Amino acid sequence: MNEKRHLWLPFLKSDLPENLTTPAQTARAELEQAGIAAKLNLVTDMGESWSVSKDGSEITGGETGVLYGAYRLMMARAAGEALPTGVQTPRYPLRMINCWDNADGDVERGYSGRSLFFEGGKFDYDPARMRQLGRLLASVGINVLCINNVNVRDPAHRLIEDWLPELAKLADIFRAFGVRLMVSIDYAQPIRHGIPTADPLDERVAQWWIEQTKKVYAAVPDLAGYLVKADSESRPGPFTYGRNHAEGANMLARALAPHGGVLVWRCFVYNCQQDWRDAKTDRPMAAYQHYAYLDGQFDKNVILQVKNGPYDFQVREPVSPTLLAMPKTTLAIEFQLAQEYTGHQIDIYAMPPMWREVYADMGADRVQAIAAVSNLGRDGNYTGHPFAAVNLFAYGLFAWNPDETPEHMIALWCRLTYPDMDAASRETLVGLLMNSRAVYEKYTAPLGLCWMVARGVHYGPGPDDYEYDRWGTYHRADRDAVGIDRTANGTGYVLQYPPELRARYETPESCPDELKLFFHRLRYDYVMADGRTLIQRIYDDHFEGYEQAKAMKATLENLPLPSRDREEALERMDRQIKNAREWCDIVNAFFHRFSGAEDAHGRTLY
Ligand code: GCU
Repeated sequence: MNEKRHLWLPFLKSDLPENLTTPAQTARAELEQAGIAAKLNLVTDMGESWSVSKDGSEITGGETGVLYGAYRLMMARAAGEALPTGVQTPRYPLRMINCWDNADGDVERGYSGRSLFFEGGKFDYDPARMRQLGRLLASVGINVLCINNVNVRDPAHRLIEDWLPELAKLADIFRAFGVRLMVSIDYAQPIRHGIPTADPLDERVAQWWIEQTKKVYAAVPDLAGYLVKADSESRPGPFTYGRNHAEGANMLARALAPHGGVLVWRCFVYNCQQDWRDAKTDRPMAAYQHYAYLDGQFDKNVILQVKNGPYDFQVREPVSPTLLAMPKTTLAIEFQLAQEYTGHQIDIYAMPPMWREVYADMGADRVQAIAAVSNLGRDGNYTGHPFAAVNLFAYGLFAWNPDETPEHMIALWCRLTYPDMDAASRETLVGLLMNSRAVYEKYTAPLGLCWMVARGVHYGPGPDDYEYDRWGTYHRADRDAVGIDRTANGTGYVLQYPPELRARYETPESCPDELKLFFHRLRYDYVMADGRTLIQRIYDDHFEGYEQAKAMKATLENLPLPSRDREEALERMDRQIKNAREWCDIVNAFFHRFSGAEDAHGRTLY
């Protein structure tokens, strides 16, 4: 599939000229192509902000701001929406996509084809497609693109070494869209250059990074910075040298500071070899334990990037307590658009309702930046499932303004993507997407339990896969009960939360149903607020989830989608139904055999 598709920008009819160098030039070119006569007022100190006059005849903003204004004007016209009035300013200055692309062309956790940037151990991309990607990102206000996997493997090190001229060429393309590149680096990179250590307090190490970073910025003066995964899942890091993560991060940040770059340091640090007999270690507690006490010790240009939940992008997790515990540190929240645990872009899973919930508990001002793992690949439609594009689109809008509602973002995407669809069908599609996460949640691991997914691949059921794996992450189901007690009497995880959330999660009664098994160990005959037992609730959810997946297919079949999207969506829908059925059967069988409980409605349990 290599044909060009415009995703939510169907009003963009053709390719852009190749010689664009600034966002303002791009804005002019786009408006001209769309036949819109709007005047651009470039104001030097407005940066990314913009405003559009009431009649749409003037766009005022900084160099990047006018481009954002132009896209929003075109989108508003295409969707028949009113533009917001007054100056529009992004909530976060850093709105980033993290690609997990490897130099060999493979994408870690990628579900939409091979890398857009690399193949066969080198850069390999279609410049026209890069410009198209630039358009897509800029149209929703995304301004930083980290192009390589956080797990940096040979030869990706060379991105900041002898591949710099090529990195510079790619940066040139994206610069015209106000998108700055970032690269993931290997914390131990100096060791490849004859330095016997990567100890952050060793002068030779610091000096190597200073010198190397000078070369990087000579080639790409506006590089956004470095992204680092250290001491995580066997990646090297400061722990090897008895140093903490502030020492590690600050050393790198000091090499970047003179060039205006930021150091984004990921907090996905936990013991991935926990022995099952060790009941004290509790994986969700790890990030807080490693970072909270360091609050205030990070340099100004360090950003700690924390996953939205304390585990790892599971379908349902509470907000990470680390995000609530570091007021003196610059924080970025990390979401995952790649549907690693949420259906591999086979199953439909629209994320905005989930982001909204996280934000309701966190508050938008707890973080100062936002990142999301990319769901992009070389597939003609970029995202595998045509509907998965809604997540990229909405993410951009949300990163600009987290007060955007899921309904509005999803409805706008539908309108722009399917301009010819009648209003009633569009409403149906919006409803299907809005509900898609709830359906997926029902047929997978119950009530926030997490980790019942097939080991390694993370698609389909594997209720005991991680329970008996060396990579131990446990739910501890037995014949009487399931879950881990994370209250003050248990692992104490709940104590990492501020009082209000702590009180909400502390008892099984106060804890919302959808998180009950995240926080509590409950007997199968535990009676829920609605009078059902826990085991009955598990059965009901799974049967319902499977039925709802089937109903989604009926809905989908009646939607007047363009033929290509229809084919792609229906083919995946059949796989989703199969997946839902497997989850339903296997999870129910798993709990049935442990508990011995029959289904109150006499449905088949295997
Ligand atoms: C998950 C994922 C890995 C990834 C890691 C990360 O564990 O399965 O593939 O490397 O997250 O976020 O670093």
